[in-house]
Amino acid sequence: MVEAWYMDESQEDQRAPHRLQPNCAVSLEQLRSLGVVYRKLDADNYETDPCLKEIRRAENYSWMDIITIQKDKLPNYEEKIKTFYEEHLHLDDEIRYVLDGSGYFDVRDQDDKWIRISMEKGDMITLPAGIYHRFTLDEKVSLHDFTLSAEGFLCLADT
Ligand code: LAC
Ligand code: NI
Repeated sequence: MVEAWYMDESQEDQRAPHRLQPNCAVSLEQLRSLGVVYRKLDADNYETDPCLKEIRRAENYSWMDIITIQKDKLPNYEEKIKTFYEEHLHLDDEIRYVLDGSGYFDVRDQDDKWIRISMEKGDMITLPAGIYHRFTLDEKVSLHDFTLSAEGFLCLADT
């Protein structure tokens, strides 16, 4: 199940959870009020999943691509990891579907406070155009190489 919370102010280790003490949870309704939409899908069967097919049809997502965030699979890995965590926005929605592994999407709320959204296999998120956000791997260790967390993301778009 996806979980979201308000972040502390610490600048240390981007892969740490950075929860407030006590934790300040953010509900799916709160996320929705920011235009952030969450869905749970069957990542093992994404190639044939009728739900994914229907989402792509209904939302006009004609384009899709898989990005694998692993040192040996992602060109310019270190650079990309840095870029992902730089606060930015897009002119189009950002749709990301985790096929494997896990990580955090951070979004700014109406008061510019950071909300951290924990995403794992089967989680799909839509960040609306214009929302400030960033992404980082979390602290989980990869089952592939036992050293770094690994990610497989399906990126969807309407262009
Ligand atoms: C992206 C994510 C990392 O722009 O925000 O792909
Ligand atoms: Ni982005």
